[in-house]
Amino acid sequence: MARAPKNPTTLNMRPVWADVSLPALVHNFESIRSYVNPRNEKRRTPRQVLCIVKGNAYGHGGPEVTKALEKVGSDWFGVTCTEEGIALRKAGVRKPILILTSFVPGEEKRLLEHNLTAVIHRCEQLSQLETAAARRGKKKVSFHLKIDSGMNRLGIVPSRVDCFARQLAKSRHLQLGGVMTHFASSEAFSDTVAGRQTREQEERFFGALERLRALGIDPGIIHLANSGAIVTRPETWADMVRPGVILYGYHPGYDPVEKRAEFEKRLALKPVMSLRTRIISLRDVPAGAGVGYGSSFVPQQASRIAVLAAGYGDGIHRSLSNRGKVLIRGVLAPIVGIVSMDVTMIDVSAVPGVEIGDTATIYGTDGQFSHPANLVARSLGTVTSDLLCAVSARVPRFYVK
Ligand SMILES: Cc1ncc(COP(=O)(O)O)c(C=O)c1O
Repeated sequence: MARAPKNPTTLNMRPVWADVSLPALVHNFESIRSYVNPRNEKRRTPRQVLCIVKGNAYGHGGPEVTKALEKVGSDWFGVTCTEEGIALRKAGVRKPILILTSFVPGEEKRLLEHNLTAVIHRCEQLSQLETAAARRGKKKVSFHLKIDSGMNRLGIVPSRVDCFARQLAKSRHLQLGGVMTHFASSEAFSDTVAGRQTREQEERFFGALERLRALGIDPGIIHLANSGAIVTRPETWADMVRPGVILYGYHPGYDPVEKRAEFEKRLALKPVMSLRTRIISLRDVPAGAGVGYGSSFVPQQASRIAVLAAGYGDGIHRSLSNRGKVLIRGVLAPIVGIVSMDVTMIDVSAVPGVEIGDTATIYGTDGQFSHPANLVARSLGTVTSDLLCAVSARVPRFYVK
């Protein structure tokens, strides 16, 4: 694992990097685990946590993050595909790994070889998995079933549960290990379609579960809750929860906004990733001169413009052009002009003592200062996960212990 150098000025490379705080990650995980296992609730076994580490662990580095979470007791991991699962197995991860978007025909063999657990979201996938499982012989292969409870994306609709049960009865080498659904709008509480949707999804999901049980099928581990539901809807916690963005330190954008403070107070989170770069050039630009591609920024007065060594090729969203800010010497300096692939310009006229080599935090924390990624995302009309996942492969991650 790469370690953050004590003094980042000794970095002998293009100065763009992400500090990933493992203590913050562990803090978030442990807070979530305690939160979903309240002392006053009587359960035979603690409610499990399946950490969502797909998308390179939301940009933080899949293997490193997963190993750190495995060490502190994460029960399960969720990735999107076989390749992501295999990468974790190769890194030495032993805990169960759920393949959330399932397999495509032909992938079953590798999935089983690496002891990955498939999600079945179409009835036909059962026979494909059964064939692969029969070839492997011996032990029954466990899988999870996804119910489409109203997101209209992936999953078996409740009316197809009987068909699923018939197919399962023919699958002698398979065993149902869990049943899940996914919420479309768990952070929404307004009087809108989205605000009413989660309750409706819960009802449909629990109805489908009842039907499975009536057909004599043991559903195994029941899991529904993503970040929004974990924080706000205890009735969805079931046997296991699936945190994504809250693991990485950010709450989803609760709706309506008046609810935000109340929900955010329930679970204190610490941002895990700070994306940083440095000033590689400084210039004084006279009033009226254009800055960057297309001269989309023309200062009204003489301005001190700094060039940062990172652009949209690294994960600085291009839509931050002329509207974002970066944290430098405790000041939020505006991004000016178009964000280029490799560099970004900022106006540092109001930053005292600014120098070439100064570190700029695109989002994250810098000592006592912070520039949260969720606020940056909100200013762009996107979600925090979008920004975090955008940090590209050419940005080295340093795991701060
Ligand atoms: C099936 C499933 N569960 C849980 C999550 C975690 O979502 P969030 O980041 O909102 O917690 C995701 C992410 O999209 C998902 O696909």
